Amino acid sequence: MSDKTVVLTGITTTGTPHLGNYIGAIRPSIIASENSSVQSYYFLADYHALVKCHDPERVHQSSIENAATWLALGLDTNNAIFYRQSDIPEILELNWMLSCMTAKGLMNRSHAYKASVADNIESGEQDPDKGINMGLFTYPTLMAADILMFNAHQVPVGKDQTQHLEMTRVIAQRFNHHFGDHFQIPDIVLGEEGAVLPGLDGRKMSKSYNNTIPLFLPEKKFRKMIMKIKTNSLEPGEPKDPEGCTLFAIYNALATREEVADLRVRYEQGIAWGEMKQFLFEYLNNIFSGPRERYDALIENPSQIETILVRGAQRARDYASPFMQRLRHATGIRPIQ
Ligand code: TRP
Repeated sequence: MSDKTVVLTGITTTGTPHLGNYIGAIRPSIIASENSSVQSYYFLADYHALVKCHDPERVHQSSIENAATWLALGLDTNNAIFYRQSDIPEILELNWMLSCMTAKGLMNRSHAYKASVADNIESGEQDPDKGINMGLFTYPTLMAADILMFNAHQVPVGKDQTQHLEMTRVIAQRFNHHFGDHFQIPDIVLGEEGAVLPGLDGRKMSKSYNNTIPLFLPEKKFRKMIMKIKTNSLEPGEPKDPEGCTLFAIYNALATREEVADLRVRYEQGIAWGEMKQFLFEYLNNIFSGPRERYDALIENPSQIETILVRGAQRARDYASPFMQRLRHATGIRPIQ
């Protein structure tokens, strides 16, 4: 086996990729995959999407958009293994094995599940489990299967996912303790600080707040979006504070130190909001116009995307399938003779 560091992360296919995804996950993941001592596994977590989204068109469309986005932004799929979770049946098989090694009490403590119960109680529901499906309840075991299937060393995720990784570690340790040392215990790699980007209204950019800036809108629409970003009512010429300013935060996440320092000066000098918005639009458009062309070409020819994903799944299964045989053997699921 190779001694590369295995880096793995999943993308839930429920939404359209936005600037926050780019800065928090896509860009750092693509950069990590270019390191020759890393083997990366990046996948569309379409089974996870089914937990919260029961609109088939949306799940399908989001899979296309997410795949096209990562490819358009330069993910090299000769290097990174890029696949769809649902193309790897071994993951579901492992999910079952892990479920049987997971204490129900551990799942009871899951933040995502507890938050839904708390919402029900708060809104005076009779049944605290109303609207909660088993997929949500056992979400962490499926995520553990995603990770342990490929013996990932590192799993870069946002803060909201750290509990899932702690659970993965607990589940893996329990399995190893009982059946032998099969799983790598993964490390949690928290995204860079400042990776949380504000959205149109100044709150964290998130699908659930409906305040995202999609990455690959047509240029005119993209410009309109930037113009919509909320600012305060300070007039041109009045000094402005970069702290807490969404326009500044977006620029800060992408520009070099010197560029950011220059902009700071322009804030002090009282740059007009209109001018700042135009400046930010041009800056972003410059970064994304090349990828946008590639994205549009991929969306127009989705069979290209499919071919890449199918090949990624084959590579992933080259690892998963023999490993699953070993796990079956270890758990006693094996031929009589
Ligand atoms: N739950 C993750 C999210 O919503 C997506 C995901 C699914 C994932 N499986 C994973 C992330 C495995 C890391 C590793 O962001």
